[in-house]
Amino acid sequence: MGRTHEALERAEKEFQENLSETPDDSHKAVVVKRPGKFPMQTPSDRFQEVKTKLVTSFPLGSVKTILITSPAHGDGSTTTAVSFAKTMAHFCRLNVLLIDANLRSPRLHEVFNVEYNQGLGDLLTKEEEKENSLFKKVGHGNLYLITCGKKNSGPLAIFESGRFDKTLKQMREKFDYVILDAPPVSGYAETKVMGKKVDGVILVIESGKTRKQVAIKAKQELKDAGAKVLGVILNRRKYYIPEFIYKRL
Ligand SMILES: Nc1ncnc2c1ncn2[C@@H]1O[C@H](COP(=O)(O)OP(=O)(O)O)[C@@H](O)[C@H]1O
Ligand SMILES: [Mg+2]
Repeated sequence: MGRTHEALERAEKEFQENLSETPDDSHKAVVVKRPGKFPMQTPSDRFQEVKTKLVTSFPLGSVKTILITSPAHGDGSTTTAVSFAKTMAHFCRLNVLLIDANLRSPRLHEVFNVEYNQGLGDLLTKEEEKENSLFKKVGHGNLYLITCGKKNSGPLAIFESGRFDKTLKQMREKFDYVILDAPPVSGYAETKVMGKKVDGVILVIESGKTRKQVAIKAKQELKDAGAKVLGVILNRRKYYIPEFIYKRL
């Protein structure tokens, strides 16, 4: 049991080290594991850790707009964006805006069970749209949502526009944190465009599913696009033995 445990820990450590192998950001990488089968810590404990790491790793106020993405569909970036935003609004008592920036396959309106018919897509394309009318208060604490609104099957141009920059700047001033739920990295140019415009990107990978090379490639694509990768969140981490035993070994 001891040796198996050590091997698992070593493999995971090696995996994470490889993801933050470059000297410029290796000391800053935010690597937090989401609970699996035997959670001792609740998801909100884990996400409070993420927030603490952000606050302690980067200068105050320098990371307010955060894009959450993943190498592929289904890795858990939307789930992570929602949990992170909820934790910061509810437990950390911050003013948080969550934006559905996946204009091709939006999901946040379903998660919060609200209408999606007016949102980011309208704000970025319609002259008369006023952002204040688009904020929907959801969940506990000061959590606000901007749904995707008008869908767009080729949204690259609107994320490249100065209007997106201006909108992001205004929201940055209004909220403590702005979390953007984005499509995956590979095959979605808009994710890389947004990645360069926000303060930082968190990459969500799925434990036991995302291959190391795929994760490294996604991280590299983001960096090549000029995005600052803040770190990696390991979603659906599996505990092969109960976590309380891990902690005692
Ligand atoms: N940690 C988790 N625990 C349980 N279910 C999860 C977890 N992460 C993701 N899921 C589920 O997996 C599916 C895909 O997750 P989602 O967050 O939509 O992925 P993505 O946004 O990366 O495509 C959803 O049905 C979601 O509820
Ligand atoms: Mg998603």
